Amino acid sequence: MRIKIKTLFTDLSLLNKEITVCGWVKTLRKQKNIAFLEINDGSIFTNLQIILESRVANEPLLQQLSPGASVSVTGTLQKSQGKNQSVELIAQKLHLYGSADPNQYPLQKKQHSFEFLRTLAHLRPRTNTQGAVLRVRNALAFATHTFFHNRSFLYLQTPIITTSDCEGAGEMFQVTTLKEPFARLPDQSIDHSKDFFKKKSYLTVSGQLNAECFACALSDVYTFGPTFRAENSNTSRHLAEFWMIEPEMAFATLEDDMELAQSYLKFTAEYVLQHCPKDMEFFDQFIEKGVIERLRHVIDQPFEQISYTEAVSILQHAKKKFEYPVKWGGDLQSEHERYLAEEHCKKPLIVTDYPESLKAFYMRRNDDKKTVAAMDVLVPKVGEIIGGSQREERLDILCEKIEKMHLNKDDYWWYLDLRRFGTVPHAGFGVGFERLILFITGMENIRDVIPFPRFPGSAEF
Ligand code: 4AD
Ligand code: MG
Repeated sequence: MRIKIKTLFTDLSLLNKEITVCGWVKTLRKQKNIAFLEINDGSIFTNLQIILESRVANEPLLQQLSPGASVSVTGTLQKSQGKNQSVELIAQKLHLYGSADPNQYPLQKKQHSFEFLRTLAHLRPRTNTQGAVLRVRNALAFATHTFFHNRSFLYLQTPIITTSDCEGAGEMFQVTTLKEPFARLPDQSIDHSKDFFKKKSYLTVSGQLNAECFACALSDVYTFGPTFRAENSNTSRHLAEFWMIEPEMAFATLEDDMELAQSYLKFTAEYVLQHCPKDMEFFDQFIEKGVIERLRHVIDQPFEQISYTEAVSILQHAKKKFEYPVKWGGDLQSEHERYLAEEHCKKPLIVTDYPESLKAFYMRRNDDKKTVAAMDVLVPKVGEIIGGSQREERLDILCEKIEKMHLNKDDYWWYLDLRRFGTVPHAGFGVGFERLILFITGMENIRDVIPFPRFPGSAEF
């Protein structure tokens, strides 16, 4: 029976037993009558060392055990003599599934840049870094479901194809089956009543509006799915396709929203430190020195909380020169967000009560009539990781805002019904899953924390 390498390091009952492991060759060190082979199967960061005597692997076979070759090995598991590993396998039998010609295999033992590895997205899962990233990504998905399950939130799947623009920013990919020559309306625009859904439709930018329908019936729900944004942002923080976690709570205010966001980030950080210690040691040593310490700090300290107005004042008094000027009413740029989190607060902070004109139509208008009950969570390394708000539950004000922002009220008839019938105060937020992974691992570029990144000009693989 095949046993995962992770199990070999944890299950002491396997010592001195005959077992079979499979994996890909990482290194081979040859001595006179013996060779040391290291393989990995992706289940844990640590490689398994295998002792090969010449009767098990002769020289022609050893020749083929170059990095990337795939093997299965049967042998006896022993406590290791060396100090770098706890157990090792004394091989009795070795089977080579497939060699990887060192003259052609693109992943050589030397360090490759992350940029170069993006061009090999099909093979980069075999690198140490990508293995660690995927294991942490997996743990974070599991932690997310655990967190919301523990708080009795219901997991809801919302549509990927939609006809409404949740954020009102117009950054949507269109979905169509129309082919040329297009049917045209009298004004020469394309006639979408002939399209698959009989109207213009898009890939969703957020599941929030749909999640609100279920929160306004079942109280606490969350979504966790892919979202799409056709913004032409070539940055290390933006993807055209990313995953978002969106909780939505009924009978809740901005205070509840901030509590949930803070608890969520602390819980997921703690979960990864507990469940991925080897991967986190690697990130700590090679990707961001001190990342474990940084996360411990995040878990132990309460987040800072300031209003947008206070944030603007802090930035205006900062000794730092910013590329973009700061004034009340303007958007906080990524450089401003990072200054607040990294230099001013030196920890995560929640910025609340943004000007109404900067935020989406659904956010609840504050009594000052200038700001809305919004909150963004900003963290060191990443900047904005969470965006959320209390939702406008008053029908008349919501209608007024939809008109003011030049959106088509008819498109939102069902959303408005939630306010017409049994309206309740409610609130929610969205976590960018890949930004969460950047925050937890210390990785620098969002394209390196999603298996197959999509960004302007690139949908290869
Ligand atoms: O702030 P955003 O646009 O909020 C919403 O979409 C709301 N509907 C969420 C809600 O209240 N239910 O996006 C939420 C988060 C951001 O804070 C950011 O972490 C991430 O999604 N995000 C992106 N991540 C990667 N690439 C992009 N292009 C992103 N745009 C937003
Ligand atoms: Mg936002």
